[in-house]
Amino acid sequence: MEKALVAGTSGPSVAFQLRISDSLAIPRYLEETYWWAYVHPNAVKFFDRHWIVNLILWGNMGRLRDAALAAIGPTLQGRTLQVACVYGNFTPCAVDRLAEGARMDVVDVTPIQLKNLSRKLKKDANVYLHHQDSTNLAFQDEEFDNVIVFFLLHEQPNDIKKKTISEAMRMVKPGGKLIFVDYHEPSYFNPFRYIMIPILRLLEPFAMDLWSRDVVSWVEETCVARGLGGLAKWSTGVHQETLFGGLYQKVVLERARPDVSSSR
Ligand SMILES: C[S@@+](CC[C@H](N)C(=O)[O-])C[C@H]1O[C@@H](n2cnc3c(N)ncnc32)[C@H](O)[C@@H]1O
Repeated sequence: MEKALVAGTSGPSVAFQLRISDSLAIPRYLEETYWWAYVHPNAVKFFDRHWIVNLILWGNMGRLRDAALAAIGPTLQGRTLQVACVYGNFTPCAVDRLAEGARMDVVDVTPIQLKNLSRKLKKDANVYLHHQDSTNLAFQDEEFDNVIVFFLLHEQPNDIKKKTISEAMRMVKPGGKLIFVDYHEPSYFNPFRYIMIPILRLLEPFAMDLWSRDVVSWVEETCVARGLGGLAKWSTGVHQETLFGGLYQKVVLERARPDVSSSR
């Protein structure tokens, strides 16, 4: 049986081809700022090599990937959503960790990225690919046990970033985990700080927004905007860690379960 590559559906999957939605446009910031990295066919051919992704992350690709996956546990149970494709072996490594019967779903707004990812997956991998925008996910609320957002937020302008965070939060089941890995403001003693400033300003202009405000503060703002009360109400535990002298951050939020005793 051919592997299911599903667009815009949720629940048990029955589609057997990658359906690209004609009505889903590539966002302006991707076309204008990131065409050279994700949209142009030559970009995929050039960038999708482990050593290049590793070089871009100063040798930290494996460490950051493993940190994101380890935050969930030794295996991925239930359903895991990856919001946006990642070059290199992020998704194949996540799939290797799927527990028996567990499933992975990956969304991306760029068809070429989904097609490229489909080529990297084993035919029997329990992975579903969806052509969707991170700001408007076509799943039910609370459909996923784990949601991973790996190096997406820094590419998005602030209004888009907020919508992506809001949608990622909406996807998480009570008791589930939401994991962000992305850039962060490095310490003044980290030489990479001075190397990254011109690189990011030139190539990834929205990334500096994560230097001035960390991911937790964006999530806090989203909680308030969605009328969820404070972050402490939405999440039982917020774990924030910086890596590589502060250049990267990992944020793990565990969604609170409803307080059964207080509702009695
Ligand atoms: C996760 S980010 C970058 C990850 C990392 N830098 C890497 O090495 O690939 C790149 C992906 O995000 C996708 N993307 C950007 N904006 C998106 C959006 N609004 N919705 C879904 N996917 C999006 C791009 O199409 C691209 O495949």
